[in-house]
Amino acid sequence: MRETIPQTDPAFQQCISPACKATYSIEEVRVACPKCGDLLDVAYDWSKVKVPRKLSDFANRWAKRDHPLDFSGVWRFRELLDFCDDRHRVTLGEGQTLLERNDGIAAYVGAKAGRLHLQYEGLNPSGSFKDNGMAAAFSHARSVGAKRVACASTGNTSASLALYAAHTGMEAIVFVGSGRIAFGKLAQALDYGARTLQIAGDFDACMRRVKEATARLGLYLVNSVNPFRLEGQKTIMYRVLEGLGWEAPDWVIAPGGNLGNSSAFGKAFMELKELGLIDRVPRLAVINAAGADTLDRLVNTKKLTWNAGRYDRAAIADDWKWQDETHRLPHTIASAIEIARPVNAAKCLRALEVCNGVVRSVSDADILDAKAQVGRCGLGCEPASAASVAGAKLLISQGVIDPDARTVCVLTGHPLKDPDATVGYHTGLNPQGKEVAGRRLYANVPIPVPDDIEAICAAIERPT
Ligand code: F0G
Repeated sequence: MRETIPQTDPAFQQCISPACKATYSIEEVRVACPKCGDLLDVAYDWSKVKVPRKLSDFANRWAKRDHPLDFSGVWRFRELLDFCDDRHRVTLGEGQTLLERNDGIAAYVGAKAGRLHLQYEGLNPSGSFKDNGMAAAFSHARSVGAKRVACASTGNTSASLALYAAHTGMEAIVFVGSGRIAFGKLAQALDYGARTLQIAGDFDACMRRVKEATARLGLYLVNSVNPFRLEGQKTIMYRVLEGLGWEAPDWVIAPGGNLGNSSAFGKAFMELKELGLIDRVPRLAVINAAGADTLDRLVNTKKLTWNAGRYDRAAIADDWKWQDETHRLPHTIASAIEIARPVNAAKCLRALEVCNGVVRSVSDADILDAKAQVGRCGLGCEPASAASVAGAKLLISQGVIDPDARTVCVLTGHPLKDPDATVGYHTGLNPQGKEVAGRRLYANVPIPVPDDIEAICAAIERPT
């Protein structure tokens, strides 16, 4: 272990705790600071990195799209995540995403027309935002010569890992909770050839076990405790800025599960501000599902804050203990965010401080209604993604977000990820034939019609 500050290196790893700040070389594979146990960041000596003087300079890369690294929505910002050589960078053409002004959703959440945007990450190669992070993590994995990569997952991380492993020839091992992941995602992991371990437990159990297996077998872990993963996810925010003509929005709203995304967004804005590339940091809203509301509880009930890095670590451990003692298990239709012990809680607290953020929870019924609206307004997304839209509606109704504020909801995953949830919402029956709970305000119920042209035409003409 090289624990000296690698002054000569432009990029290094650093403990997030200001009281520790231990640094490690970029070549080390770690998911926590060996000195104090806190999370690690990838940090940069910006004086040694050729960062453009203004963000709009990145737009020049569009003219060179025949080069895979300039085509990539991650690597065309490579000076802002410059931790490896070009020859190690992995890309599958991730990050060709869309920031769409959506007035239908603006009306739904109570925002003014023209003020609500959707950042659609379902367009990524594996259909979720995870590919941004995976491109970066696999680049690091390749640069350190890793052969076997592993993760615990509620589905999307495993799909993305499996795809990037198939692409790079690494061996993929994924831990998923038995019966806890949506079929679209399981289908991907299987089809891309990952060794898929269905653990008899939930995501938090998978996370615990994958860490143990990683330590024992020397696997390369790509969950978002891997600081390189989060470097890739910073680029989602660069593309949001790009979509807004390089201006910061007033609010960014993201669903919160393991809290990697929100942490990455906070780091992106922290660095851009430090570099003088933005003059204003947007506010951040992280939205939990009500059935998996650990962050909401930590922030709003227990009043936990980052406190300039002196956050109350014991309070988080106490919450985990309380969950054990009360046998509290997360449960939500938004299976992607069915997580009770978010590994990035501390980094998310930092992001909330940097971005003057807020945390809220929304019910499954609100999530599914919002999801149906996202579909009807012309994009579509999976249940967890719609938490951001349900969160926008809640925060506007509470007067926290002004209807005139420029707001971006991140749609993290594609609608085909979880067809069971969608069909269940619209038909009222789940795949087991049981009735689906909830209001189902926007259900588009299929119409049974006999094989008869008169009946078919009548069904088409009948007013809805
Ligand atoms: N939205 C989707 C579609 C997700 O798959 C996830 C996380 C999140 C939101 C939450 O993001 O963890 O960064 O707070 N999915 C992980 C997985 C946990 O295993 O696929 P986060």
